[in-house]
This record gives sequence, structure tokens and C-alpha cells, in this order.
Amino acid sequence: MLIVHLSDLHCGKKWFSPGSLALAIEEINELKPDMVVVTGDLTENGFLKEYELAKEYLDRIKCKRVIIGTGNHDYRSTGYLLSQRYFKRPELLKHKNAIVTYLSTARPDKDGGEVGFRQLQWLKRILDENREKFKVVALHHHMIPIPDTGLERTTINDAGDVIRALTQSNVDLVLCGHRHRPWCLHLDSTTILNAGTVSSEKFRGFFANSYNIIKVRKKKIDAKIKVVGGDTLDFKKILKENEPFIP
Ligand SMILES: [Fe+2]
Ligand SMILES: [Fe+2]
Repeated sequence: MLIVHLSDLHCGKKWFSPGSLALAIEEINELKPDMVVVTGDLTENGFLKEYELAKEYLDRIKCKRVIIGTGNHDYRSTGYLLSQRYFKRPELLKHKNAIVTYLSTARPDKDGGEVGFRQLQWLKRILDENREKFKVVALHHHMIPIPDTGLERTTINDAGDVIRALTQSNVDLVLCGHRHRPWCLHLDSTTILNAGTVSSEKFRGFFANSYNIIKVRKKKIDAKIKVVGGDTLDFKKILKENEPFIP
């Protein structure tokens, strides 16, 4: 199974790189992925025109199973009222022996976020019902601080409760965005992958637009970072080196 994970498009007038998004989508279509997961910040400010722009690009993805979630930027300027008009509410996607769920963590006009008690109860039930499957949970915000990203103040409020639920339910893969910095962590048997920004100039520590390519075979995860229009990098490369990545 091939999963492509992209995040933080930031469609808008400022800091948005349309050429990068167009090229990334061309590359993704050539990969013919089984699933595409988009972890939010589709827009820069949640404006109507920005949602239209994001929709125009994301409609170019040729994949039957696409899950598109929102981020904190999409909930700005009452953008939360628009998100479901342009993108179907993402909840649960199934493919063969795998499930992908999306947790909505953004809250209106806040940079931080939370999963919340009720959503976490819902998640636990879904994970329990799909115990034997390859379980993927996607969300916009990160749960654990990521290096080279400056002052930390936007990990989800209920990170402790969420991490416990994910690891206790043996979630195989967690996909996050928000920090604009690719990163990889392992907690028990759970792999947590952060995607960089696919088309924003607002880089942190990793100064190139990128997305993640994840191959899964018999629950074994092989994840790589794809620089848009550039190299495919091993996560080990950025985990080991303290130098910022500048192509
Ligand atoms: Fe972002
Ligand atoms: Fe964000």
C-alpha cells in the first residue's frame, strides 16, 4: 500500500508557492498512490477565495481515496463555516486492511488546538472496532515538540490523553502537519510522521517544500521525504544531522 501525506498548502496571496503545489500534485499522480492524506492548513487565512483555490488544486489529485482535513489557518476569519462546503468532512477511510481517521484539532481563531474528550471517545471506539487493521490516525497539529521550529506553544492541549489513547490502541501510524518541518518519532509500536509544507514559503528548519511518501507492507512502514521537484530523502538523514536542510 502506498500512502502520500501532504500538508500545509497555505493557498492564498502571501507566501503561497502555486508552482510548487502544481508540481507536487503532478508528482503524486505519477506515483499512483492508494491513499492521499492532507493534514490541513489548506488556506492561509480561511478566506472564501483561498478555499476555492485549494479546492481547484486538490481536485487535480487522481486518487480514489483522498482524506482532506483542516488546520488552524483554515479556521481563521470564520473559515470553519466554509470548510465543509468545499471539502467533505473527513472521518474514516477504509482500504483493504487499513483504516485512516482524521481528528479535527483546529478551533476558530486559535493557533493551538485539541482533540477533545468526545472526539477521543469516538476515536477509541473506531480503533477498538478495527483492532486487527493497519491503523492510521491523521491530525493537523503535532503532539510532541519538533526540533528546529522555534518557540513551542501549539502542541495540542490534550496531548497526554491522545498519546496514551494512540499507543494503548496500538495505532501503527500517526500523520501530523502544522510545524512545516518533516520529522519522525517512534513511541512503542506507533510511528509518528510530520510532513513539511508542500507549498508555503514559511519554512522551519527544513528549507524546501516537501511531502511524505509512505510504503506499507505487512504493517512494516517505509517512509521517505520527497522534496518537491527534487530528491527523495531518508528520514534518518534529517534525524541525524543538526544542520538545517537547505537544497
Ligand atoms: Fe501551516
Ligand atoms: Fe497550522
